Amino acid sequence: MTDAPIPDDEVRPVTVLFADIVGSTALGERLQPDEVKALVGECVTMMSRAVEEYGGMVQAYAGDGICAYFGVPAAHDDDPERAARSGLRILELVAEYAHDVEAAWGLADFAVRVGINTGQAAVGQVGAAEPGAVALGDATNVAARLQSLAEPGTIAVGDATARRLSHRFVFEALGELEVKGRKAPVTASRLVGPRARASEEGATPLAGRDDEMTLLLGALGDLVAGRGRIVLLLGDPGMGKTRLVGELRALAGDRVTWLEGNCLSYGGLTAWPFVEALLGWLGSEIGEPEIAVRTKARARLGALFGNDLERELPALGRLLRIRIDGPDDAGDPDQIREAYIHWLEALARERPVVVALEDVHWADPATRELAEAVLDLAERAPVAVILTAEHAPGSEGAMLRLRALGDHGHRTTEISLNPLSDQATEEMLSVILGSEVDAVMRMGLVREAEGNPLYVEELARALLEGGLEPRGRTWTVTVRADLLPPALENLLVARIDRLPVGARQLAPTAAAIGRTFPVAVLENVAEADVGDGLTALLRAEIVREVRRYPVFECSFTHGLLHDAALSTLTPTRKRELYARIAAAFESLYADSLDDHVERLAHYYAQAGDLRRAFEYAERARAGTG
Ligand SMILES: Nc1ncnc2c1ncn2[C@@H]1O[C@H](COP(=O)(O)OP(=O)(O)OP(=O)(O)O)[C@@H](O)[C@H]1O
Ligand SMILES: [Mg+2]
Repeated sequence: MTDAPIPDDEVRPVTVLFADIVGSTALGERLQPDEVKALVGECVTMMSRAVEEYGGMVQAYAGDGICAYFGVPAAHDDDPERAARSGLRILELVAEYAHDVEAAWGLADFAVRVGINTGQAAVGQVGAAEPGAVALGDATNVAARLQSLAEPGTIAVGDATARRLSHRFVFEALGELEVKGRKAPVTASRLVGPRARASEEGATPLAGRDDEMTLLLGALGDLVAGRGRIVLLLGDPGMGKTRLVGELRALAGDRVTWLEGNCLSYGGLTAWPFVEALLGWLGSEIGEPEIAVRTKARARLGALFGNDLERELPALGRLLRIRIDGPDDAGDPDQIREAYIHWLEALARERPVVVALEDVHWADPATRELAEAVLDLAERAPVAVILTAEHAPGSEGAMLRLRALGDHGHRTTEISLNPLSDQATEEMLSVILGSEVDAVMRMGLVREAEGNPLYVEELARALLEGGLEPRGRTWTVTVRADLLPPALENLLVARIDRLPVGARQLAPTAAAIGRTFPVAVLENVAEADVGDGLTALLRAEIVREVRRYPVFECSFTHGLLHDAALSTLTPTRKRELYARIAAAFESLYADSLDDHVERLAHYYAQAGDLRRAFEYAERARAGTG
């Protein structure tokens, strides 16, 4: 959420976008200075809106351009994607604008350069009167530099961003660019545009998930025999929901009509996944000119609906945002819903239909309502609805799930994706790593990933690329917080950032105490009642209760979440926090300090108080020896 308060100083994953107008100097020869200013101002406003549309935050207007952040004040799983989409939107808007400029003054070179880069940045407040957040660091410098090196009318993207987006967007390599004040050159690519469908090339073979595939194939068998089905696929980010949907799509082949749409974390158009599904069926690309979409819609829907086309087309046109003459109420949600269901019914008369809606925890109310109508349709037509979702209490997706279980329980299969077994994780690793990594290291990876396939992939990839320097064999002990692969860090920090403020602030404190932490210590360090914050952490499944007796202890559900919570602390805050934790232990456990000497040595070492750290370490050694 963009209205979250600006945090205190933190280190966090940020995607930075710079956009700068070129050709405004030439305008100066034709226009009055104040006219140039007004024109540039209008263009800058337009670009800012494109940033805000995707949940970014415009930090500064510098002359003819903007600097914007995605991930400040709160990270989203998909900040790089948001930045890429708003970069493309900026190009689109400025291209239109350039048309007008050319028509008015005959100037042909009005354009914009965009640079995007992702990385760790120190985020803090500056300015007393109107405080604003800034993100400083290499990531920001490189983004600015990429912008200045981009050809007019293009987007230059840093390597970290491009790698994370390569399955969804098309890139062209720009090679290595020298960046002033930086020793290593930067690998840059040009962002060309979105891919029609996420590429699955390079995916490792499916590991494990035998039971889940059996259930999915059972549902597919029912559907092919003409029975409507509903499948709920639930799991944490990266657990493999999308992957299983993809496996099923491949197995279904052309026995069914496959429709697919994704709910977007930044909203997008109303009922977006249904728009996407219809566009996909029409064979339209996102962002295609309206006239092309309209032509395809008339042709394909005409073939399906025959004489009924004129009755259904206006409402579907409104959904797609294309202009089609029709009654005034064609845009009513009821009309749109009805036309959409008629379309699905018509399709299902030809062949069984699958409607796969991904990430319904992000669904908007219009999407949920239309999805409910499709659930009803599964009762009377050979239609299978597949919903994927993360656990998100109170979301539209959670309501949809209850509706499926409550009203359509006899047709519904719910599949919760649990962590992969160690054996399945090993299978994935042997494909990704080959024989390059020894058994000890492999075991370390299995332990760190805790059965989450995305984590397995990202950790293994980072290891292959040398991002996680294996220092001798000690690497297997732990992936240190500052070594989290960037793709994972964004995802993990975003999970914490989604929490209410109180819980969000509590997370790093709890993490500093340890993966498992006594709640009494947390209360003492936070100097407040932590009840609400802790409940929020529990509900979001970021921590779980370990035991209530003899002391109440909770634990981070995943080791990497624990690392991510720690990773946002600046060195200063970290030292101060650890000192307070050590003091809390000393006062709360004054009678049994001997049981905690190792922890205390660790806390004092982190706090930078080496004298006390040594004292406790000495006591620990004396105790064991
Ligand atoms: N069982 C598996 N065997 C091999 N690879 C897998 C398996 N499950 C998932 N993967 C891979 O792990 C990555 C993450 O999976 P996927 O994108 O399907 O997760 P997700 O649950 O949809 O996550 P998100 O919440 O981000 O949408 C993908 O690259 C996918 O190919
Ligand atoms: Mg997914």
